[in-house]
Amino acid sequence: MTSADAIKVMKQEVGKAAADRVKSNSIVGLGTGSTTAYAIEYIGDRLSKGEITNIVGVPTSFQAEVLAKKYGIPLTTLDAIDHIDVAIDGADEVDPQKNLIKGGGAAHTREKVVDALANEFIVVVDGGKLTDKLGSTFLLPVEVIPMAITPVMNALTKLGGKPELRMGIKKAGPVVTDQGNLVVDVKFDSIDNPKELEKTINNIPGVLENGLFVGVADVVLVGEVINGKPTVREM
Ligand code: A5P
Repeated sequence: MTSADAIKVMKQEVGKAAADRVKSNSIVGLGTGSTTAYAIEYIGDRLSKGEITNIVGVPTSFQAEVLAKKYGIPLTTLDAIDHIDVAIDGADEVDPQKNLIKGGGAAHTREKVVDALANEFIVVVDGGKLTDKLGSTFLLPVEVIPMAITPVMNALTKLGGKPELRMGIKKAGPVVTDQGNLVVDVKFDSIDNPKELEKTINNIPGVLENGLFVGVADVVLVGEVINGKPTVREM
């Protein structure tokens, strides 16, 4: 198995393990990204086989909405419900306290709304996402309203970060979020206090949300390939 194949298999297995935890009569937060995409597919699969019934999804992005429709999961909005039973979502980094960096797909603002509302938030990652300290391998995404981009980047620099405007791939110009905003990816040499940094960044005028998710995750499912065999463990 090539390493690309191994990562795909890990993502499939961990997505399936999360989908297996969804019970009938549930409102399910549907996350964003390549790992959660498999969870959405398997929830749809279980629904079509009648293994589970009466599921409604709350999408965290346009991507999640498109996938839910493709796999036959009925959708609702936060205006129509009073709780979310379980949310399933990916992450870009996970520390030993289950704090996360998210936003690799520029969807962290809606993801935080949905994931934080869920009674149980299940994170699905491959083993490569685990880190001792947040910010070691991944830049911190910050969603910014367009007119405030320059002062926000200056403020992030003053905080000790190195901000970069995220540019599109196969699209000229910057990435535009589902809300019509921009994303700045910030390199911090060391994120010593994620809880404090999450608040400090969100307090900069013009910032909508940053990708630090502190104290939000309940369960982290980790996909790994051990002796050539894909396995899933709970962290
Ligand atoms: C979306 O903005 C992100 O928060 C994703 O959940 C995160 O990037 C994980 O994506 P993958 O499962 O594709 O790595």
